[in-house]
Amino acid sequence: MNIGIDIGGSGIKGALVDLTTGEFASERLRIATPKDSTPENCADVIARIVRKLAPHASDLHIGITVPAPVVHGRIPMIANLDQGWHDLQGDEFLADRLGHPITLLNDADAAGIGEVYYGAAKGTPGIIVLTTLGTGIGSAVINNGQLLPNTEFGHIEVDGQDAESRASAGVRERENLTYPQWAKRLDRYYQALERTLWPDLFVVGGGVSKNHEQFLPLLHLKTPIIPAALRNRAGIVGAAWAAVNG
Ligand code: BGC
Repeated sequence: MNIGIDIGGSGIKGALVDLTTGEFASERLRIATPKDSTPENCADVIARIVRKLAPHASDLHIGITVPAPVVHGRIPMIANLDQGWHDLQGDEFLADRLGHPITLLNDADAAGIGEVYYGAAKGTPGIIVLTTLGTGIGSAVINNGQLLPNTEFGHIEVDGQDAESRASAGVRERENLTYPQWAKRLDRYYQALERTLWPDLFVVGGGVSKNHEQFLPLLHLKTPIIPAALRNRAGIVGAAWAAVNG
């Protein structure tokens, strides 16, 4: 049985995933991320979700995403969860707590896998750059189906500032930016990515991508840019895929 779990700053989400279609094979469960988002507290929430999704299963493949880079299962830095995650060998910690083998990966990498294998970029050859616009900015780079993990392009410097601190969807809300005002910042951001990567396609994920008509047409790029198709399913689907295909 394949389970994908997506740990975010505000919610921990999970579902059973049918990997032949990329569809959910259960409802999507969501529990608010504990205020004190330590690894222990998050693991307890994940255990509740897993028990509910698969009360009797013993042969579980569980993929879990975190909003941080994951280097051979270890989390070298983390911005939007408790610092207890910092430097943690996260895969071993969670496997221990949950009693199942775990594949741990970056949330945007998981979303990228989801969109390339099952979603908006399915069947598109070449270099796909997926960005997730949420509390932060996540990135995934996939070349002909092969993921280059942990690219962290939300943290490139644009106009002298960390890109995420200017152009994330969270910043748009905090600063009450209109879509045209925000699009100016996004334009600078995607142009910087374009100049350095020359991708074949940009895919834009994150909750705000459902409003893509408000900002994608305002961008001036040479590269085609399209909204994600799986929306809030992408991370869970990609995590489940990674648990099996590694
Ligand atoms: C983190 C990334 C993550 C992104 C989206 C950034 O702040 O550094 O690892 O993918 O937020 O959650």
